[in-house]
Amino acid sequence: MKTTISEVNKYLGQEVTIGAWLANKRSSGKIAFLQLRDGTGFIQGVVVKSEVEEAIFKQAKSLTQETSLYVKGVVQEDSRSPFGYELQVTGIEVIHEAIDYPITPKEHGTEFLMDHRHLWLRSRRQHAVMKIRNEIIRATYEFFNKEGFVKVDPPILTGSSPEGTTELFHTKYFDEDAFLSQSGQLYMEAAAMALGKVFSFGPTFRAEKSKTRRHLIEFWMIEPEMAFYQFEDNLKVQEEYVSYIVQSVLENCQLELERLGRDTSKLEKIKAPFPRISYDDAIKFLHEKGFDDITWGDDFGAPHETAIAENYDMPVFITHYPTSLKPFYMQPDPDREEVVLCADLIAPEGYGEIIGGSERVHDVNLIKERVKEHGLETDAYKWYLELREYGSVPHSGFGLGLERTVAWLSGVEHVRETIPFPRLLNRIYP
Ligand code: 4AD
Ligand code: MG
Repeated sequence: MKTTISEVNKYLGQEVTIGAWLANKRSSGKIAFLQLRDGTGFIQGVVVKSEVEEAIFKQAKSLTQETSLYVKGVVQEDSRSPFGYELQVTGIEVIHEAIDYPITPKEHGTEFLMDHRHLWLRSRRQHAVMKIRNEIIRATYEFFNKEGFVKVDPPILTGSSPEGTTELFHTKYFDEDAFLSQSGQLYMEAAAMALGKVFSFGPTFRAEKSKTRRHLIEFWMIEPEMAFYQFEDNLKVQEEYVSYIVQSVLENCQLELERLGRDTSKLEKIKAPFPRISYDDAIKFLHEKGFDDITWGDDFGAPHETAIAENYDMPVFITHYPTSLKPFYMQPDPDREEVVLCADLIAPEGYGEIIGGSERVHDVNLIKERVKEHGLETDAYKWYLELREYGSVPHSGFGLGLERTVAWLSGVEHVRETIPFPRLLNRIYP
């Protein structure tokens, strides 16, 4: 019976065949342990010299790392492995022998691993992170569909720049100038006026000269946008959504979290509602903590965010940032024009900002003013202003950075391990 590692539990005591790669191997004179992987999972194959033909044992002992093979064996329970099963090998058919696989079980430097990302993805650790990424994506679709949102796909090639003009990837669109999308938000606002509650999931691009563990040049964002939702309604969607994906990962990625050594007790606590602190209070708190380098009107850096987040064992919303710090589309607080009705969601354990969101300006005159102030009064925004001309309504939305969320839930230090092929400052290979 041909099957996969993820399905062996259905064949206890039976002989199965699995197409696999040899991840690693240990052997003595009497027994060989083959660490097999097939993409769906990892299983140990045991070859006992006294129980197989001489030739099979010899072949098992000579297998090289990452050789592809069909392995025949009897599925057995194995209480010592977290996976719970092993394969008593009865036959081996090599498909392709791998010679001198570059990533050996010894330690390799980061640059070396990054240069071999196309192979590094095969490792147990990367496999676990990619499965967690997939679970977050799956749970995202599940959550928003359950809540009545419609998935809408904004364009990648655009003429506008929602998040400021300094970090744009410029390209030619035939004879016109164009940019790679920084955020689908402006288009999602148009979509919300057509479909009510919408969400997008797609790649976004920032030509940011940042070389930190939280920055990618190309990253994936989930961007919900909701007509008739105001500041409070927006935060509620965010905390429920984030709780949902955390609980989904806990439920469906137990093996992966264990393989990564993730402390899941910290994730189990993540349930809505989330704590909040205003920007004003955050500044006061930082001053009390001895951060003399920051004054009202400054943006927070990673150390500031981490210091604030350390007060909570939950993600925390920092609300009401200075208007001057934030993009043109954010709605100023009607009682206090110098701050906007926005919130950033800061993940615990030092993972930083995972969400940026706000209520949007819906007054036509105010949006025109704001566009002008930001020097964006061009034809590229004509359509965006028109959204406020015809039945404008209060609306709100946010963007969750997938890779930072994967890093947090997986407990990996750097976002470079959270996307299959990271685009980083000075790296577009492989
Ligand atoms: O805060 P940002 O820039 O917000 C927006 O783009 C809004 N237009 C979203 C919206 O309201 N629809 O980005 C949102 C999130 C950040 O909180 C962060 O998680 C992630 O996107 N992000 C990055 N992730 C990796 N690398 C980068 N360079 C990132 N820049 C932002
Ligand atoms: Mg932000």
